[in-house]
Amino acid sequence: VGKPGGIEMPNNLPNIIGCSAAFQDVLRQVNLVAPTDATVLIQGETGTGKEVIAGAIHGLSPRCSSRLVKLNCAAIPSGLLESELFGHERGAFTGALSQRIGRFELADKGTLFLDEIGDIPVELQPKLLRVLQEQEFERVGSNRTVRTNVRIVAATNHNLARMVAAGKFRADLFYRLSIFPISLPSLRDRREDIPLLIRHFMNEYAERMNKRIDTIPQSAMDAMQRYSWPGNIRELQNFIARTVILTSGPALQPPLWELQQVDCKTGSKPTSLQEAQRSHILRTLEETKGRLAPAAKILGVPRTTLYYKARRLGIDLSRSEVAAIA
Ligand SMILES: Nc1ncnc2c1ncn2[C@@H]1O[C@H](COP(=O)(O)OP(=O)(O)OP(=O)(O)O)[C@@H](O)[C@H]1O
Ligand SMILES: [Mg+2]
Repeated sequence: VGKPGGIEMPNNLPNIIGCSAAFQDVLRQVNLVAPTDATVLIQGETGTGKEVIAGAIHGLSPRCSSRLVKLNCAAIPSGLLESELFGHERGAFTGALSQRIGRFELADKGTLFLDEIGDIPVELQPKLLRVLQEQEFERVGSNRTVRTNVRIVAATNHNLARMVAAGKFRADLFYRLSIFPISLPSLRDRREDIPLLIRHFMNEYAERMNKRIDTIPQSAMDAMQRYSWPGNIRELQNFIARTVILTSGPALQPPLWELQQVDCKTGSKPTSLQEAQRSHILRTLEETKGRLAPAAKILGVPRTTLYYKARRLGIDLSRSEVAAIA
């Protein structure tokens, strides 16, 4: 599949971007494990694409014509999680007014994606282990055993091995889940992919917003590639969405002052985002000898934006402070 920028994507997943060796290795593992019924445990920082990879595993599996059912274990109050997973009979507990089918039954013949698996309460873990091993369970309030044919893909941004060591996650369940572990690299561990992703999201949002944007200034690209992206792909994606809104004309104008690029460049100790923005703006003003318009141009923001931003950060825009730091 040809990608913007003439880069050939050597994979069968056109919307999954990444040419770095680290990411290509992930895609290789996805292609190997997808056709099997093996349980997969996807680990990675927030925003690294765990849900996207889970979807790809289902989509490339023989189960793809059946359902991919998702459950975020952290989003359900722990008391309700058992019934959410296994279902319940009418009258099983106060408030159980009717019978309910759980996710394991809904996902029969398909895939069940258990997101934030690290948040599953310890007391529920043996029941999950049993269904993984025996493919059978009982609905809450029933002693009839239900058989199910489900492939499990689990994800977490916790370090499960560490949770096991701390007694917060059962070792037997951990080993059962991590039959095939996939670890997603953070974006800062595959910086080569940042330009690809930027172009991908830029094209996507420009088209959606009906704008023609086709160039990315090299200095902006450098700054974005240097930034550490703690929120990974999701943070980058949202940044580009905002950037496309802010851009007028054919060249992308990212609000670079939002990125702590000063810290990355100088290697100094990280400070707050506000502090980094403040010092970056001051440094830029220093370079333009305190003149606002050229500083705004360098920073890729409208003059008025820089003015209000600087004021909010407590930068005195009368000549004196700018002169004082020179
Ligand atoms: N390789 C990729 N190529 C293009 N877009 C991606 C890729 N990986 C993730 N994304 C996009 O990044 C965003 C975050 O991905 P996703 O929700 O899968 O991350 P996550 O690891 O599940 O995050 P969280 O830990 O916060 O739940 C989504 O909008 C997704 O479409
Ligand atoms: Mg997720």
